[in-house]
Amino acid sequence: MSFQKDFLWCVGGAAAQQDGGYLDGGKGLNIWDALSDGRVKNGDVCHVACDHFHRWKEDLRLLKELGVNSYRFSISLARIYPEDEFTVNEEGVKFYMDLVAELDRLGIEPICTLYHWDLPLWLHERGGWKTSLAVEWFERFTKTIVDAISDKVKYWLTFNEPQIFVGHGYQIGEHAPFEKLSQKEIQNISRNVMLAHGKAVRNIHKYAKLPPKVGFASTCDMLLPVDGDEEKAYLATFDSTRNGVYTPSWWCDPMLSGKAPNGCEWLSEEDLKEIYEPLDFCAYNIYRADVAEGFDYRYTGNPFTTMEWTITPECMYYSAKFMYRRYGLPIMITENGMANTDFVYEDGKVHDPQRSEYLRTHIKNLKRAADEGIPVIGYSCWSFMDNFEWAEGYGKRFGLVYVDYRTQKRIIKDSAYTFRDIIKTNGDNL
Ligand code: NOJ
Repeated sequence: MSFQKDFLWCVGGAAAQQDGGYLDGGKGLNIWDALSDGRVKNGDVCHVACDHFHRWKEDLRLLKELGVNSYRFSISLARIYPEDEFTVNEEGVKFYMDLVAELDRLGIEPICTLYHWDLPLWLHERGGWKTSLAVEWFERFTKTIVDAISDKVKYWLTFNEPQIFVGHGYQIGEHAPFEKLSQKEIQNISRNVMLAHGKAVRNIHKYAKLPPKVGFASTCDMLLPVDGDEEKAYLATFDSTRNGVYTPSWWCDPMLSGKAPNGCEWLSEEDLKEIYEPLDFCAYNIYRADVAEGFDYRYTGNPFTTMEWTITPECMYYSAKFMYRRYGLPIMITENGMANTDFVYEDGKVHDPQRSEYLRTHIKNLKRAADEGIPVIGYSCWSFMDNFEWAEGYGKRFGLVYVDYRTQKRIIKDSAYTFRDIIKTNGDNL
């Protein structure tokens, strides 16, 4: 068996992490532009990042060299609505129209994320996700984007990792807007984000020109079976009292099945009806298996990536199995990859054998799930280029393409060629 014929082989990025041009083209500030000063490692800020806003054409050409047939990007919300809930920046809209037209010309399938954590500053200052203003505005924002680019875009993701932007942004205060709120407030924010998701999906269904395929990108903090007990790992993975807002089921149960998991009784039946709108696939980002009491697989000298994340390729197999069993939808891996100590060698290249092996073993485990009959429709490597890794700044490099931030020179890393070879055989060489 192989991956399906039209498998989506993708690389991804996000606006705040790679675009830069933070004051150009009529863009307004977002919470990362405005609030991260002094709160990000090494004093890094995302104002210039990879300067992709100015170099996007040459960057898209690199996609061809990587051999991918799909590209995941996110919309900078403050580029579209820079100053309030009504005023659209046409220049910003045009940027995305041009981008998807070029992808179309290159024969690369776009996957558009509507919200990848860069809340416009004006909205934050008026209460942001604590308010129904955000819910209503997000519905309008979605329509603006759908009207502009749905003649070229089929694949939509409403939110990226709500677990992290709500958990890190409002519960533990490590991500913008750096707040530490009560559980009650976290529940209110979660409900608002879920309601905004429901409204966005309905608007995509209503206004899209190409028949849309819609999902959202969850995290997947899954637990690996210990001593072969899969059932125990499955149940603990989806117990949302385990890790609250960070648990996949906190979000996926309402948004993918219209149900409230245990521990989320604060969602009413009425909320669930508003939140749930049938989705086409179950998308999630996965880098490693989670660790919990009774599910600690680590050992002395256990390998870590430079994010200090463990390396557990089996997480790909078990996550696909668990997510498919619970939600019954085709699986799309929207992020997987590793941060590595990448640097330019004397020969001018970037040799990163660890990443090659990471990708090979992780995709191989995903293929095992596909071989067992689980529908898997795509795999997106994170990330396309090195970029601004949120609170970690530029020190953590996830890219298949190396970026020298002093010159903005791009260098394709060795692992990108490994990935290209996997793509060429549609995974048959694994
Ligand atoms: C998930 C996020 O979606 C992405 O923005 C981030 O860079 C990667 N994980 C790596 O931490």
